[in-house]
Amino acid sequence: MPLTHTRDLFAKALKGKYALGAFNVNNMELIQAIVEACEEEKAPLILQISKGARQYANPVYLKKLIEAAVSLSNIPIAVHLDHGDTFDLCKQCIDEGFTSVMIDASHEPFEKNVEISKKVVEYAHKHNCSVEGELGHLVGAQFDEGEEGGSFSTGGHYTHPEEAVKFVKESGVDSLAIAIGNSHGAYKFKGEQHLDLERLKAIKKALMDAGLGDYPLVLHGASSVPQDLVAEVNKYGGKMPDAQGVPEADIEVARRVGCTKVNIDTDLRIALTAGIRKVFTESPKEFDPRKYLGPARARVKELVRHKVKNVLCCAGHAFD
Ligand code: G3H
Ligand code: 13P
Ligand code: ZN
Repeated sequence: MPLTHTRDLFAKALKGKYALGAFNVNNMELIQAIVEACEEEKAPLILQISKGARQYANPVYLKKLIEAAVSLSNIPIAVHLDHGDTFDLCKQCIDEGFTSVMIDASHEPFEKNVEISKKVVEYAHKHNCSVEGELGHLVGAQFDEGEEGGSFSTGGHYTHPEEAVKFVKESGVDSLAIAIGNSHGAYKFKGEQHLDLERLKAIKKALMDAGLGDYPLVLHGASSVPQDLVAEVNKYGGKMPDAQGVPEADIEVARRVGCTKVNIDTDLRIALTAGIRKVFTESPKEFDPRKYLGPARARVKELVRHKVKNVLCCAGHAFD
């Protein structure tokens, strides 16, 4: 079975009102765990690869591993570049057959972000590839910019609804990653764990009102940092004090409001680490990698099954 186009997965997800899990992959065990979980749950899947993953594993290894996963499974799988930071990196991935790329020029001023994103869109669309752009900064909720006096702040870190409309129209991106208090990693919140879901609703509405239809939004930093896994990591010699993620209830609201692609990496890392640490602690004589990577892979699979079934609600939609 060949790769499935990201565009087709998005269209079905928007129609079916579920979210697609976009899981980061760096090695064979992660790919196997994610694909097996989605296969068992009949969930459509986006595997995403960062620049760092390409540097770590080598793009050819990742491509071949994904080819193996695609040929051994029968669920639809799309392959996406996560946080492409230059036109050249996006072009490489487009030329390699990725079904979508992200151009992340969100650190640039608005006009420059538009210019770079538009250049990627022009090349990508000529080569049957979709593009995700980003507007706003993933700084977390410590810079909370919630609604003030009935309107949303401009010029801050969070995505402004009207600017999102302008950005999508001018750049032509197919989906948009937004900043609403989300951030990457295992230490997302110091105080209350929350996303600015009112802003998310306003962004979605502004896009709809501007004639862009049910426009797909992307939620980065969507790991929930499960406290049972963190406790296990710490119990077996790890040190992740105060690790905190996005409450699953917030992800569910984000899904219902219209975050069609939900990015998860940190939770996979924590599950894998918990599995490895447990074996190392309980069986210190063990040195066969299969004996610790195998159980760790099973932990990742269990986590992904939970996500697609209970949080993203894409389980059962592989063959819609
Ligand atoms: O958004 C970042 C992803 O978690 C990928 O992380 O750049 O360390 O591969 P990475
Ligand atoms: P997490 O760090 O919350 O898993 O986010 C991953 C991500 O956004 C990848 O682009
Ligand atoms: Zn991200």
